[in-house]
Amino acid sequence: MPPRWLYDDLGSALFESICQLPWYRITRSERALIEAHGADVFDALDGPLEIVELGGGNGEKLDLLLDAAARRHRDVSVRLIDISQAALDAARARLEARANPPRVHLTRGPYEASLASLAGAAGSRLMLFLGSNIGNFDPPEARALLRGLAQAAGGGGAVLLGVDLVKPDADLLLAYDDPLQVTAAFNRNLLTRMNRDLGANFPLDAFAHRAVWSRHASRVEMRLVATAASDVTIPAAGVSARFEPGDFIWTESSYKYTPGRIEALAAKVGLDIGRQWIDPAAGFALSLLLPRGR
Ligand code: TRP
Repeated sequence: MPPRWLYDDLGSALFESICQLPWYRITRSERALIEAHGADVFDALDGPLEIVELGGGNGEKLDLLLDAAARRHRDVSVRLIDISQAALDAARARLEARANPPRVHLTRGPYEASLASLAGAAGSRLMLFLGSNIGNFDPPEARALLRGLAQAAGGGGAVLLGVDLVKPDADLLLAYDDPLQVTAAFNRNLLTRMNRDLGANFPLDAFAHRAVWSRHASRVEMRLVATAASDVTIPAAGVSARFEPGDFIWTESSYKYTPGRIEALAAKVGLDIGRQWIDPAAGFALSLLLPRGR
């Protein structure tokens, strides 16, 4: 499924809880990299700056990056693109509480359409795609999305990309199937949504969350596995299906990269790695991607 369906108001709140779980290190690792190296991001960007963040949630990382930008740049404006109105409101409130609040524009919508509606940048533009969001897209979609980011950044801009790295199986499984079962609630919330928004009749107690690591495809597959037989209809989608125990819905993937594969992905859309900061303990990379030749 397109990842955006995970982020209704409840889904967004559950995801923020996931970010606080000890087994889910992406958010903390990325935050620490931004705190340590954020100022270096702005070396490559001249003039008035627009920062555009896609799927930034509560705006916490953007807030940190603005601290760094304030030391280098005078004129910064911000555009937030997110599917969740609750996330946009929370991020705006956080940014407006800053000592020197930037101008903030909100765009509620899916990434592709929102990117397409961006006008050319007046000065330089920094595109943020953090939290390993890119990992939730299959390779062709990931490439198309990164191409859209590169185009929006333009010749004088840059893309800051946070990507989770391949790591030991046990670490990956704990991150996507945590002992507190917050991730299970996050995934199963899709059933709640289908029942509420599409008139479906999924029996919630007949589906269990399961995460499977496919080393071959380099992705964690999130599944909802039937634990009992059920007949389900989704009227608004014109779908009906019978589930037998063991049948599953593959709801989402989270692809994991190596530094080499990040470089290869960037190269396909005309971007080079300008700078890259890696947290080896968490297995996470923050990359500043620049148009080739700059
Ligand atoms: N971008 C996050 C990631 O891939 C989203 C996420 C975290 C997620 N946990 C999840 C998506 C569980 C589906 C199921 O890490």
